[in-house]
Amino acid sequence: MQDFIFFLGRFHVLVLHLPIGILMLAIGLEIATRWPRFAALRPAVPATWLIGALCAFLTVTLGYMHASEPGFTGEAVNWHRWSGVLLAASALLVWAWQREFPKIYDRGWPLACLITGGLLVATGHFGGNLTHGPTYLTEFAPGPLRSGPGGRPPVTNVADADIFLDVVQPTLLTRCASCHNDDKRRGALSMATYKSLMEGGESGAVIDPGEKQRSDLYRRITLPADHKDFMPKNGRTPLTPDEVAVIGWWIEAGALPEGTVGKLNAPEDIRAKIAKVLGL
Ligand code: HEC
Repeated sequence: MQDFIFFLGRFHVLVLHLPIGILMLAIGLEIATRWPRFAALRPAVPATWLIGALCAFLTVTLGYMHASEPGFTGEAVNWHRWSGVLLAASALLVWAWQREFPKIYDRGWPLACLITGGLLVATGHFGGNLTHGPTYLTEFAPGPLRSGPGGRPPVTNVADADIFLDVVQPTLLTRCASCHNDDKRRGALSMATYKSLMEGGESGAVIDPGEKQRSDLYRRITLPADHKDFMPKNGRTPLTPDEVAVIGWWIEAGALPEGTVGKLNAPEDIRAKIAKVLGL
């Protein structure tokens, strides 16, 4: 039974596109039909709101099933949940409002569009953060918009790069944190911070400082890509060989929370790889 709920729940990520599209259409029609040119479409507006609201309620129900899978913890899940519930409720209220009090609605409709539109964007945004990890949107953004962890200044010189904060952590955040963050801890592992990474997951520590061969994290990124334990899972973009080598060296060097490449005396070949990872 539980498996079946999880099975249905996964359709959340498919079905959610319906209320987005239909409610955007409702808002678009609401605005367009104020022009005489599009006034003929007016009768379609209430039905569009109603269908959008019903699809939103269906999505919320599937969302509750999806979130019952283990690993969804934390604030972002709650934000997403409540903005989604409010969105469905407000779409239904808009429909009821224009049906029951058309006179007042004729003046109040911009507010209705603003509130539903705002909730639509907020719900989508919180949901997107859950699926793709909080750094997804800004990963390829122009420099100043890029959200480096802790807002680190860009590195210009390999020796000055901090091995964890500038190299290892950004790599893990872009390639792994979509499934391993504080809100969605697959395998009970979060890579949100150094502390949570070192605490490990379901099966204990995933990094054994100084011993990359005994570190589950290193084992999983060096397995053949078709192995069931290989990470990242589900065909997500794997780490490059340079990134794997650098993470391996960081573990061998003690898996420290900070320390510059220069101070840690990284050998030449590793420095070259770090430079490549940093795009220098
Ligand atoms: C698409 C989702 C996804 C991505 C991306 C992902 N993982 Fe995982 N990871 C999982 C799941 C699910 C589990 C739990 C099942 C398992 O142990 O295989 C897991 C478990 C783990 C574990 C074991 C935790 C424990 O204690 O049992 C490690 C280590 C790990 N992942 C490392 C990584 C690394 C490193 C990356 C990035 C290179 C990564 N993962 C990217 C889904 C993902």
